[in-house]
Amino acid sequence: ILFHCWVCWLHLCQVLRGLQAKYGDLYRQDNVVLSGTHTHSGLGGYFQYTLFMITSKGYIKSSIQIIVQGIVKSIERAHENLRPGRIFINKGELEESNLNRSPHSYMNNPEEERKRYNGNTDKQVVVLKFTDMDGDGIGMISWFAVHPVSMNSSNHMVSGDNLGYASYLFEQDKNIGSLPGRGPFVATFASSNLGDVSPNTRGPHCLNTGESCDYLNSSCPIGGTKMCVAFGPGNNMFESTRIIGENIFKKSKELYSSTKQEVRGPIHFAHQWLNMSDITIQINSTHTAKTCKPALGHSFAGGTIDGGGALNFTQGAVEGDPFWDGIRDAILGPPSNETQDCHRPKPILFSTGEMNWPLPWHPVIVDVQLITIGSVAIVAIPGEVTTMSGRRIREASSHAFANTEVVIAGLCNIYTHYITTYEEYQIQRYEAASTIYGPHTLSAYIQSYRGLARAIAEGTEAELPKGPEPPFFTDSQLFSLLPLNPVDKTPDNSSFGEVLEQVDPVYTVGQVASVTFVAGNPRNSGDMTDKTFVTVEKLHNSTQTWSVVHTDASWETRFHWIKGTSGLSNATVEWHIPQSAQSGFYRIRHFGHYKEFRNLKPVFTAYEGVSDVFKVNKRIYY
Ligand SMILES: *[C@@H]1O[C@H](CO)[C@@H](O)[C@H](O)[C@H]1NC(C)=O
Ligand SMILES: *[C@@H]1O[C@H](CO)[C@@H](O)[C@H](O)[C@H]1NC(C)=O
Ligand SMILES: *[C@@H]1O[C@H](CO)[C@@H](O)[C@H](O)[C@H]1NC(C)=O
Ligand SMILES: *[C@@H]1O[C@H](CO)[C@@H](O)[C@H](O)[C@H]1NC(C)=O
Ligand SMILES: *[C@@H]1O[C@H](CO)[C@@H](O)[C@H](O)[C@H]1NC(C)=O
Ligand SMILES: *[C@@H]1O[C@H](CO)[C@@H](O)[C@H](O)[C@H]1NC(C)=O
Ligand SMILES: *[C@@H]1O[C@H](CO)[C@@H](O)[C@H](O)[C@H]1NC(C)=O
Ligand SMILES: *[C@@H]1O[C@H](CO)[C@@H](O)[C@H](O)[C@H]1NC(C)=O
Ligand SMILES: *[C@@H]1O[C@H](CO)[C@@H](O)[C@H](O)[C@H]1NC(C)=O
Repeated sequence: ILFHCWVCWLHLCQVLRGLQAKYGDLYRQDNVVLSGTHTHSGLGGYFQYTLFMITSKGYIKSSIQIIVQGIVKSIERAHENLRPGRIFINKGELEESNLNRSPHSYMNNPEEERKRYNGNTDKQVVVLKFTDMDGDGIGMISWFAVHPVSMNSSNHMVSGDNLGYASYLFEQDKNIGSLPGRGPFVATFASSNLGDVSPNTRGPHCLNTGESCDYLNSSCPIGGTKMCVAFGPGNNMFESTRIIGENIFKKSKELYSSTKQEVRGPIHFAHQWLNMSDITIQINSTHTAKTCKPALGHSFAGGTIDGGGALNFTQGAVEGDPFWDGIRDAILGPPSNETQDCHRPKPILFSTGEMNWPLPWHPVIVDVQLITIGSVAIVAIPGEVTTMSGRRIREASSHAFANTEVVIAGLCNIYTHYITTYEEYQIQRYEAASTIYGPHTLSAYIQSYRGLARAIAEGTEAELPKGPEPPFFTDSQLFSLLPLNPVDKTPDNSSFGEVLEQVDPVYTVGQVASVTFVAGNPRNSGDMTDKTFVTVEKLHNSTQTWSVVHTDASWETRFHWIKGTSGLSNATVEWHIPQSAQSGFYRIRHFGHYKEFRNLKPVFTAYEGVSDVFKVNKRIYY
């Protein structure tokens, strides 16, 4: 079973614990894969290794618990709806929807290898279609290699980005008339070998001057790295998200609709834990190589054209910067000579494998996992593999299986940053600086997946050694520096949910209806599973009743929470009225909770607000 979500190992473990109570050992480490997505628009604070807790102000239990409960619930629902069915596969190519963001690294791969492929990104879309025994569709999974980062860092709304939008479109198409997430059909758009692949297809340009960025280090003559940003294909991030999402949706739907090839045969799965700082690889008949303790290079802090670093780091650094190394040494201590040698030519910025306070900074025990369903093999990789790395893993795995479609499922079970080829590693752009177990990381994985593939092919997967179990950090070991949110306040003589800025009386499709409410902090609403902060409601004239046409999960709505001072805040709700909207009367509602203290105890009270009724007209053509 492959579940697509935003989580890492702790959750898999927590999810499994949640399931164990109900289903015994039916769902286990070896037969469940959690494949995450790379969004810049999600919640933070749910990965327990120290590096990831720095930017999220620690481990945020209120985010994690709800995500875990939601995943457990979705698996329970899937389990309860289990019935016999059939699986079909199809694949095709999608153009103009991805771009290699480190072409200079890619070009360092051997020419004869590059010649065997068409271009420096994978264009293929692989779709699995699930039907019941009557042939009615019940779900699908689509893999296409692209970073879901069309939305940039200026966006503060929770968003599934381009792949999330593709999923939304597919489900709306199948679950006609249902609100998002409510219908029976499930459409999943999952991660593949997207490591060096950007969705921003117009490529990088200097924000200030409009010039091209430097090819080798992606920096601008004035302003450096942070001025070099990739855009497109739309004129803003919303348009870009929509276009890329639509492209992936359309191609996937075409493949879904036209597939005739049924997937038949048994299901196998193999799983192991590896100590990634301690793998010996047989390179050729005479030489071996080793992986390293985790470390990040200088170019990690350079960021990418999909989101630059804040300081003066650049990509492609093969020498350290004495200024930053000095600061690092003073605060964290210098990396050991052993680690420095092991990672060469990477200049080490953070020797995370040697940093264990208050908890390890990076994982060293990682999951490798392989699932085969008939003639489809899903390689579950614990990181973001580059285009060529993915191709090499695919090729190596397919040697074990004849006539098998090998799918790269990225960001599975635990997160270990990027995985480049040995040749790409030499260039030390962002992806290479973030290949944390050193230059032979990919070779170590290929060796391991080959072992899993061989075991499945020979039917010996049950005999595979389990490997060292990863640590499990308990709540008392994890820290949170996120302050409790203060009590919510309203402006004088107003109440929560009161309208501060009213909608217009009349709109035409294509316009944006907007209303601002006196609000409480959304964190005070707690678990929002199956709930919404926002509804757009339509009046049924004949019965004088309202029905919900959109929620906060709809592409058409935007819910902005604007934090003021002294506990004051506003919620602005926008409805981007689609061309397909029916003319008639509408209203917008907002639901929230405010926090106050009563008898020294925090109390959370629900409130709601409603806009005036407004009219929507179809466009008038002259
Ligand atoms: C980037 O590389 C160019 C040469 O290709 C060089 O002139 C420039 O100084 C480099 N920028 C930084 C910030 O290192
Ligand atoms: C994000 O995209 C918007 C356009 O939607 C653009 O105005 C802004 O400069 C971008 N910001 C960053 C940090 O790239
Ligand atoms: C992983 O390997 C390293 C290097 O050999 C070793 O120091 C470490 O103890 C190992 N970790 C575990 C959990 O086995
Ligand atoms: C094996 O690999 C090493 C290191 O890359 C190289 O120096 C050596 O020539 C190779 N030997 C053979 C037999 O290919
Ligand atoms: C980065 O900034 C520091 C401090 O301003 C400076 O000393 C250093 O030389 C800069 N490094 C680069 C590569 O520009
Ligand atoms: C690390 O290498 C440097 C330079 O080669 C050397 O001066 C130093 O003594 C080494 N440190 C250790 C602990 O071996
Ligand atoms: C709030 O209402 C009271 C009573 O109606 C009035 O005296 C006061 O001026 C109002 N304050 C503001 C800021 O409007
Ligand atoms: C709604 O119904 C009322 C009477 O119940 C009628 O006067 C009005 O024209 C109707 N409006 C629309 C938009 O159909
Ligand atoms: C909330 O909206 C009102 C009315 O537009 C505005 O005066 C006030 O500054 C806003 N408060 C915040 C926190 O944005």
